[in-house]
Amino acid sequence: MTAIIQNNQRHPPGPAESFDLNMTKESFEKIAELITRYGDICRIPSTTRKNESYLVNHPDYIKHILLKNHENYIKGVGFDRVKMLLGNGIIVSDGSFWRRQRRMMQPSFNCKVIGKLSEQIKNCNLDLYAKWQRQAETEEIIDISKVSSELALDIVLRSLFSDDLDNMIKEQGGNPFSILTSDPARDIQLVLKFRELRKILLMLIHKRHKEKPLRYDFLAMFMDSRDKETGAAMSNQELLDELMTMIIAGHETSAITLNWVWYFISQFPEVEAKVHAEVDSASYQDIPGFDDLNQLSYVKQVVSEALRYYPPVWLFTRKAINDDRLGEYIIPAGSDIFISPYYLHRQPDFWPQAERYDPDRFSEDMIKHQHKQAFIPFSAGPRRCIGDFFATVEMQIHIGVMARHFKLSRIYDQPLELSPEINMRSKHPVMMKLQKR
Ligand code: HEM
Repeated sequence: MTAIIQNNQRHPPGPAESFDLNMTKESFEKIAELITRYGDICRIPSTTRKNESYLVNHPDYIKHILLKNHENYIKGVGFDRVKMLLGNGIIVSDGSFWRRQRRMMQPSFNCKVIGKLSEQIKNCNLDLYAKWQRQAETEEIIDISKVSSELALDIVLRSLFSDDLDNMIKEQGGNPFSILTSDPARDIQLVLKFRELRKILLMLIHKRHKEKPLRYDFLAMFMDSRDKETGAAMSNQELLDELMTMIIAGHETSAITLNWVWYFISQFPEVEAKVHAEVDSASYQDIPGFDDLNQLSYVKQVVSEALRYYPPVWLFTRKAINDDRLGEYIIPAGSDIFISPYYLHRQPDFWPQAERYDPDRFSEDMIKHQHKQAFIPFSAGPRRCIGDFFATVEMQIHIGVMARHFKLSRIYDQPLELSPEINMRSKHPVMMKLQKR
């Protein structure tokens, strides 16, 4: 089903009517329709944008955009809104500035550092464990969406600021970042609240410059890192942008994933039984340490399958700098590219019975046969999520301790409904009965 041919260049098929894809429910439904009608790639005239949009839903094309010819693509539609909140942090920046920042931050995400920071992850989980012990006495009903959000926020803040988080809470009379767990709106109010948070963080940066306290956290590492070429450190403004980026990029995505992981465990008794068998037979006492995580391979599969089924980043974008080709098709300079992990993860050629939740898809044997770019919850290539390993460790430790001691059973008070916005969340909170095992 191929459309116009001009000067030996083919354009992908697509609808005649215009539509502007966005991170909205309307687009979520439109994309399903476009993929059914046009397949792996389609071209959509824009209503208000200068350029046409291309919806790309084949791993080979995605490999080309994110890896092989990644230099030709910058961040696209939707990132202007994020820029208002995050300044020029690495999730929105491009070109040489992005490269410099990413190089300066990358060492903070290596295995050794995450191993050490996993102590912070453990501590956050131990606090929650003590709370659940009390709540499970009376089999309380808990809102696991809210619990996951609070835990993920605690983990990212403690990894960024370690003990200074307690100082900030004391000075501010409460956790100034808790608005992020209670206020899902992405509006102008949030922009104003973010300004307040930046002021608080700037005070902390000044304090660290002045007092030089001994800390082991991301902020200390970002402040110590130097540009290889110039030897310069990050400016306070750059530090602020990167801190806000870490908080925003690292919090909601992890929280949503934890929410779905518990949801799926509670829905599938055979998956729950396998998780229980694995966490019960592992050799750690109560809570896994970093070195125990290789004993939690099934838990990791459960997390991966949740990320396949409901990837929090369900849609992301790029913009082509110069003309490019995807297979036989021309992609003109300036085109807006849309990639949806949600729909790619349901591509029947790569995911048989895609609507079945089945963690065995990610067993060691099965992943050998997977097309690498058919599974992109963390994106791929040089702009792949910098926190992917951190997030995986975070999930494994959490499930490793909680599933050993507790059983969560879903309370069916509301039907499950997806809310596809910047991230894809569950529209209603997921409620669980908490019991000791
Ligand atoms: C399950 C949890 C997570 C998921 C699903 C996720 C997903 C993603 C995706 C899809 C991207 C690429 C977006 C794009 O290219 O448009 C990304 C980028 C990024 N993520 Fe994550 N993320 C997660 C956790 C985290 C954590 C825990 C952190 C930090 C502590 C983090 C920090 C970042 C940053 C800084 C980027 C931008 C990287 C760059 O462009 O160089 N993420 N993430």
